[in-house]
Amino acid sequence: MDDSKFVIIGAYGQLGRALQAQYPNARAVDSDALDITDTEAVSDFDWSEVTHILNAAAYTNVDGAESKEGRRIAWTVNATAMRNLSLVATKHDIALIHVSTDYVFDGTEKLHSETEPFSPLSVYGDSKAAGDIAVSLTPKHYILRTSWVIGEGKNFVRTMVGLAKKDISPSVVHDQIGRLTFTSELVKAINHLISNDCDYGTYNVSNDGESASWADITRQIFTLLGRDDLLVTNTTTAEYFAGKEGIAPRPLQSTLDLSKIQATKFISTDWKIDLESYVKGEQS
Ligand SMILES: NC(=O)c1ccc[n+]([C@@H]2O[C@H](COP(=O)([O-])OP(=O)(O)OC[C@H]3O[C@@H](n4cnc5c(N)ncnc54)[C@H](OP(=O)(O)O)[C@@H]3O)[C@@H](O)[C@H]2O)c1
Repeated sequence: MDDSKFVIIGAYGQLGRALQAQYPNARAVDSDALDITDTEAVSDFDWSEVTHILNAAAYTNVDGAESKEGRRIAWTVNATAMRNLSLVATKHDIALIHVSTDYVFDGTEKLHSETEPFSPLSVYGDSKAAGDIAVSLTPKHYILRTSWVIGEGKNFVRTMVGLAKKDISPSVVHDQIGRLTFTSELVKAINHLISNDCDYGTYNVSNDGESASWADITRQIFTLLGRDDLLVTNTTTAEYFAGKEGIAPRPLQSTLDLSKIQATKFISTDWKIDLESYVKGEQS
């Protein structure tokens, strides 16, 4: 596999950074080098030698997308720009690798399969579902549907590690259930799909292991840091957001069925194993 023929888009987000580590010879572009919402810039980019577009770009501000301005940005980046990428990938016979979210579902199913119909609750979810439809029209595409992404950047685990270190006792939601997805797991899955020439299409990818709430995960973080997990108390999503404006509804069940990718001999890692390494890394 010649990674010098790969282009990583959104290369400085959480996933983008992990992809750069995996594919050091790939061309890595941020939004200054290639703004995917600029139809002309996408069309004029030199795609001649490119075999794979790895798209890590998205507008990921779930609550921000509920505002008047945010709604427009979410739709432009997450949906319209996917049309731009799909068109160039199709024209130049490039494989388009894209990342989706469980927010395209309403979270009423305990386990989400790849074939569950879209039922997004939020503007972010709407825009990502529209992007999935655009990408799915690309002859060579992989859509990795994921949840609760943790990598290099601002994320839930990092916030909770910070609170534990300051001996703050957080109240954390206990009614949203899912599994973490470390960017290492996503990159491992992308590499697996590409290098094994797996069938194109949509694959769920998260870490494996027992489904847990954000509060359970926080307790695990506190334990790993040698803090008393009784410092972490449960709240509900409704209580947590009470009185706050512009909050997007969230799916309560985020667990993804991993059987499709595992049937391709992909070996998933338990989120607790990756969480331990991540928390240790935060300590050093
Ligand atoms: N974070 C989660 O919990 C989560 C959960 C499920 C799925 N996902 C999906 O996983 C993927 C990766 O998420 P992430 O957490 O790594 O995202 P992230 O850290 O927010 O990074 C997103 C990147 O997209 C870039 N970007 C935004 N607008 C752009 C544009 N117009 N042109 C080019 N680049 C643009 C940003 O670059 P600039 O800063 O330069 O604008 C940023 O580097 C996304 O598809 C997301 O929807 C994330």
